[in-house]
Amino acid sequence: MNAIFYFSSTGNSLDIVKRMHAIIGGDVHSIPKYHGNLNNYNKIIIVSPIYAFALPSPTENFILSISSEVPVYIILTYGGIALSAPYYAYKVAMKNNINIHAVYKIKMPNNFTLFLNQPVFFINSALKKSQKRLKNIALSINENKKCIPKKSLINLEKLSIESQNGRKELAKSFNVSNSCVYSNGCARCIIICPVNNVYQENGKILFGDNCVGCLGCYHNCPTEAINYKNMTKNKKRYINPNIDIDELL
Ligand SMILES: Cc1cc2nc3c(=O)[nH]c(=O)nc-3n(C[C@H](O)[C@H](O)[C@H](O)COP(=O)(O)O)c2cc1C
Repeated sequence: MNAIFYFSSTGNSLDIVKRMHAIIGGDVHSIPKYHGNLNNYNKIIIVSPIYAFALPSPTENFILSISSEVPVYIILTYGGIALSAPYYAYKVAMKNNINIHAVYKIKMPNNFTLFLNQPVFFINSALKKSQKRLKNIALSINENKKCIPKKSLINLEKLSIESQNGRKELAKSFNVSNSCVYSNGCARCIIICPVNNVYQENGKILFGDNCVGCLGCYHNCPTEAINYKNMTKNKKRYINPNIDIDELL
């Protein structure tokens, strides 16, 4: 049986997972919530976003925790510029000596929109093009094809690791406006955080120093009360239109 694992804060990777599952089947698991045994599976597929030309730390830690010898396929979703990310993922897999068969990338809408809004045209175009790409990848996985990424000419590993460390502080620059509806029973930001970095004290939403920078709290807040510095008051939030917010919780 196949196992499809994913990390997704705004639904792009989950959208890919759902479409992939419809083609190849198997068990689907969220990486932050999974504590089971991998030995029952004969193929492991990991779907994750690219962060800063590398991987989100939950995805990287998951790859490093795999002890099974079954073939592993990694699919990376990204918002525009992947650069050396597939090779980075391959190197993480090799570091753990796992049976890595392929690393693919699929362009999706960009969810890193703290600084720039994304035109709707870009969102629709990326989603449309991703359909065909995904079908081809699913076919290759079904046929056990290998796809090893080429060694990147630009080595961004140092930058990627620095930015992974830098993201731990990202939520420290969030502030919560008084449109927050925690007092009405909303705790979406607390529930969605994959590393329990969002909490409340005396009804106020606060952030710890273990952020992974996924922006899940920011994009999924129903009243857009979470802001980055004073830069996001007019920025649109993004959730993949094929995904229901409840699926991300
Ligand atoms: C912290 C952060 C860093 C990102 N870095 C990159 C990047 O280096 N290159 C890129 O093309 N997209 C980047 N993105 C965009 C995401 O990879 C992309 O939108 C992805 O599909 C989001 O997946 P999700 O909705 O499953 O979380 C970044 C997003 C975040 C939140």
